[in-house]
Amino acid sequence: MSTVYDCSIIQLPRIQSTSGNITPIYGNVNVPFEIARVYYLYDVPGGETRGGHAHKNLQQLIVAASGSFDVLLDDGINKKVVHLNRPYMGLYMPNMIWRELLNFSSGGICLVLASRVYDESDYYREYEEFKLQTQGRL
Ligand code: TYD
Repeated sequence: MSTVYDCSIIQLPRIQSTSGNITPIYGNVNVPFEIARVYYLYDVPGGETRGGHAHKNLQQLIVAASGSFDVLLDDGINKKVVHLNRPYMGLYMPNMIWRELLNFSSGGICLVLASRVYDESDYYREYEEFKLQTQGRL
């Protein structure tokens, strides 16, 4: 079972130029999974919260492509908060981590690379149900 200590910051490549920078990301190279899906959150009102769920199998890399937000990570026992505010820093999250995205800066964009396609049955949307699943793992 994953813990918040398995979540890690991954420094992404940067191709820098005076006319702007590029960050390319390859599955199984820059992230430890094959990338099956990309999505992004945008037009999030400043100060807003998203997330509030865990995934049974999905792995993700979350990047503040613009602006900033905080990610609250919770494995059912331990909690950790990570502040993301650089487009070349990604937060890797294995499966079975409850997450909340907090304190979005206005105009903030959250880019997500995911190891699987969207599947509602992969979600724990109730914290108590998630927590129950994490019991007895130690
Ligand atoms: P959700 O993952 O709950 O968003 P957040 O964690 O940012 O609050 O998804 C919100 C809605 O969008 C939900 O109805 C499912 C839908 N959705 C898709 O259809 N495909 C996707 O790839 C994602 C991420 C969400």
